[in-house]
Amino acid sequence: MSNRVIMAAGNWKMNKTPKEAVEFVNELKKLAAGAKSEVVVGVPFVCIPGVAEAAKGSNIKVAAQNVHWEASGAYTGEVSCGMLKELGVDYVIIGHSERREYFGETDEMINKKAKAILASGMIPIICCGESLTQREQGVTAEHVRYQVKIALLGLSAEDVSRLVIAYEPIWAIGTGKTATDEQAEEVCAIIRQLVAELYGNDVAEKTRILYGGSVNAQNAKSLFSMPNIDGGLVGGASLKLNAFEKIIKHYE
Ligand code: 13P
Repeated sequence: MSNRVIMAAGNWKMNKTPKEAVEFVNELKKLAAGAKSEVVVGVPFVCIPGVAEAAKGSNIKVAAQNVHWEASGAYTGEVSCGMLKELGVDYVIIGHSERREYFGETDEMINKKAKAILASGMIPIICCGESLTQREQGVTAEHVRYQVKIALLGLSAEDVSRLVIAYEPIWAIGTGKTATDEQAEEVCAIIRQLVAELYGNDVAEKTRILYGGSVNAQNAKSLFSMPNIDGGLVGGASLKLNAFEKIIKHYE
């Protein structure tokens, strides 16, 4: 057994208004109180002030879903790490496949974001994962290793031991087609092996690696009990109190 604390992280994507978000978190904090998992909600930017306030004094941590790597400047529509940090954000999800696909995010941009997030005292949740075509072509390991290697370029061992990597096969996102425990474990183990190659075993033992892609109340327990899976990055099921509570308390 590792010492890594299992993380149940919700990625709300573009869902819930600021008012709905606060109502949800006010309920969630009752359900999540005392949970053994680390609980994170990844909310839209405009929901962050209300959610951070509502989560105060609870065990719920707040994540943003994106950030710009520059501290300030002429970047219309963007948000900086300093802005998020001031609001009490703990984690920032970066490199999600939806951002890569619809907004042209590259591995180099994700690396710059990771550096900026860590420098400002927050923790990145770095997403990676192959498409169905890549899986069928047999290049999953190469693709994921490439993505993670570039995301981590120039980071210190200390940084890498704190950050979180989320393996999210694109074919499993929002499709209800969850990777099997073995498929998810295989790639999470490949990622941990890469971290060990780059930073040594001690760091690789600390880095948390999540699985994401149609995680739900039924499959969380067996996925999270795999040796190299340290929790989940959860989309659809994190929008429902009952389902997310079950994912948080998967160990019961
Ligand atoms: P679903 O859980 O809805 O498949 O989404 C996964 C995801 O993209 C989390 O970041």
